[in-house]
Amino acid sequence: MWGGRFAEGPSAIMREINASIPFDKALWRQDIAASKAHVAMLGAQGIVSADDARAISQGLDNIAAEYEANGVPEDWDLEDIHMVTESRLAELIGAPAGRLHTGRSRNDQVATDFRLWVRDAIDQVDAGLADLQRVLVSRAGEHADSIMPGFTHLQTAQPVTLGHHLLAYYEMLRRDRSRFADARVRGNESPLGSAALAGTGFPLDRDATAAALGFDRPTANSLDAVSDRDFALDYLQAAAQCALHLSRFAEELILWASQPFGFVRLPDALSTGSSIMPQKKNPDAAELVRGHSGRIVGCLTSLMVTMKGLPLAYSKDMQDDKPPVFEAHGLLALSIAAMTGMIAGSRFRPDRMRAAAELGYATATDLADWLVRQADVPFREAHHITGAAVKLAESRNMALDALSLADLQAIDPRIDERVFAALSVDASVAARASYGGTAPVRVREQVAAARKALGMETP
Ligand code: ARG
Repeated sequence: MWGGRFAEGPSAIMREINASIPFDKALWRQDIAASKAHVAMLGAQGIVSADDARAISQGLDNIAAEYEANGVPEDWDLEDIHMVTESRLAELIGAPAGRLHTGRSRNDQVATDFRLWVRDAIDQVDAGLADLQRVLVSRAGEHADSIMPGFTHLQTAQPVTLGHHLLAYYEMLRRDRSRFADARVRGNESPLGSAALAGTGFPLDRDATAAALGFDRPTANSLDAVSDRDFALDYLQAAAQCALHLSRFAEELILWASQPFGFVRLPDALSTGSSIMPQKKNPDAAELVRGHSGRIVGCLTSLMVTMKGLPLAYSKDMQDDKPPVFEAHGLLALSIAAMTGMIAGSRFRPDRMRAAAELGYATATDLADWLVRQADVPFREAHHITGAAVKLAESRNMALDALSLADLQAIDPRIDERVFAALSVDASVAARASYGGTAPVRVREQVAAARKALGMETP
């Protein structure tokens, strides 16, 4: 394709280091679509004849059918998906194939293809996250009243409901989706027609190609259009953030599935056994979601470092932009699917969760709040009194509400028998009815709002 200037062909090493076809063949659908939009515009503008434009377009359709049936051939001499397709086009239709690249460079071509690919990836992730949210919201509705210990520092803090805990992830995923949506808006401009770096002298209609490819508008600066990859970094940043959320959730499932917790039984279909210990059921899918998040963050780092020192406009380093994006997307899509399956198929164990919540003095704050409200004790003093009650209960290895009234009154005479109503875990969660709080009434409201936002039917 560029042999005219060279006396010798490339060495084997050059061929190998230069070839991106092993990975950028993943762009073939976008490459064909962008070429078809380009040639239709060239024909409409009279830059190539109507006959040639038709022949090129037909040839591209035939190549797409070949790729669909047999995959993309990997010819290292042809470097990348753009040249592989163009050379096949020449084999199929002969001389008119040479007119396709009029007013175009691989630099605007690859930037266009990659933007289209990232846009598709965003749409796929968004649909997957919406499915995961729907599963979360259904399970949260089932468990609006199921009590579990809420933790800080992984120490029992206050009772919460499982529904509330699941909805916390619904909220995280809602923000993740909005990050992907932002990335989609910003990235949805067409580089096509920027040519190598400076634009072109041919009378292209950039609005037409942008519209044909579903872009909102053509990019406004040709140097920027061929040399920035912030649209891919926006995707990776959103992906990394989302993967971190999934990883924290996976970590909780791993803890909850462990025998000392026993809060959940993960579905068999997403667990594995041990080759030596017959009793084992391992949460491998959750562990791999946690593990994959590290790789996804690595992909983000990889592209950031690739881009950080590049002068305008295109440099070949930028060919290395695609593997991290492809890898991160594959890992993220799989992680989302695995989490969806695990949440949908898990059997939560509210009995075990409640027992754990009752064990850890989770209602100590309720005793302190009761003293403030019923006996007008300043909160700091109430905190101190409650600490003494917990110490006593702990020394006797019993729950707070198992202490007798006499025991409690010996600690502070302002305590009376009404306190016992406040010390159960049920009373504790019911009391936390502030907006956004864990009370079952609030959780049900949030479930209803989420179902509406997700277009789910009212149960
Ligand atoms: N395969 C190349 C890439 O992915 C296409 C652009 C090549 N442009 C160039 N000036 N060599 O970046």
